[in-house]
Amino acid sequence: MTNLKEYLTGKLDAHELEILPRSYDVVGDIAIVRLPEALRHRAEEIAEAIMQINNHVKTVLNQVSSVSGDFRLRRLEWIAGEKKTETIHKEHGCLFKVDLEKCYFSPRLSYERKRIAELVKPSEVIINMFAGVGCFSIVIAKKSEAKKVYSIDVNPWAIKYMKENIRLNRVCHIVTAVLGDSKDIIAKRLQGVADRILMPLPEKAYEYIIYALKALKPCGGMIHYYDFVHASKGENPVHKIEKKISYKLALLRTDFEVSFGRIVRTTGPRWFQISLDIKINQKRL
Ligand SMILES: C[S@@+](CC[C@H](N)C(=O)[O-])C[C@H]1O[C@@H](n2cnc3c(N)ncnc32)[C@H](O)[C@@H]1O
Repeated sequence: MTNLKEYLTGKLDAHELEILPRSYDVVGDIAIVRLPEALRHRAEEIAEAIMQINNHVKTVLNQVSSVSGDFRLRRLEWIAGEKKTETIHKEHGCLFKVDLEKCYFSPRLSYERKRIAELVKPSEVIINMFAGVGCFSIVIAKKSEAKKVYSIDVNPWAIKYMKENIRLNRVCHIVTAVLGDSKDIIAKRLQGVADRILMPLPEKAYEYIIYALKALKPCGGMIHYYDFVHASKGENPVHKIEKKISYKLALLRTDFEVSFGRIVRTTGPRWFQISLDIKINQKRL
């Protein structure tokens, strides 16, 4: 694939090329770029270049805010192509319909979704505590022999698209969409039922780990824990998060082992998103 910088060489000046974003996301037929203020007047040419490089892209949007709030949304401004924010994204043989203005979605979690799905054993009961439009849940349902995936989200729009995605991918018998705050849903109706818990919301996973423990079966199971961390040069970001969550789990008198950890992605200068697989052997909640 031609690189955007190469494509625009000769069309933008040296400074503009220097501040041009190195990457952009493509979700279905929509591209999302994050242009610095100083490139706003060049937005149309940049969008045109993105559409030329990726001929299936029909719409280019500019992300004008960070992801924020409980629903993890970002502000998007239309630059070029069809005026829309809804699309269908293909990943691992699954289809995900999503409105990018109303729901969270990131194609950058694709490898992580496949990695988790490959760990699932036959007949497992799984709870996805922060499920978005259902991506992790649906990849698991398609790629494993899981018995049930409870797929919880607090955003009614995410649940609307999740239900549509469950139908599109024909996994109605496995994935159940549940609207609500995962801590309330677990406390009211999902205590002691799960073999595996997914916590793909780094902003809340630490606070909600107690509910993940409550949701696991009395014999324990796996928790997929996500967090953000800043690590200086020489510090290991995975070890930092392992230390942070181990302290909390020890306070909760849990017998556990961290079986795996990895950097999912870099989110800023020396900021990392970390994923830990935590095996809970025994719990007291
Ligand atoms: C980072 S997104 C999840 C991404 C998703 N797993 C995926 O692969 O696309 C986090 C999601 O958690 C939801 N959320 C935030 N707080 C929540 C809560 N207390 N209970 C349930 N869902 C919550 C947000 O609405 C958002 O859709």
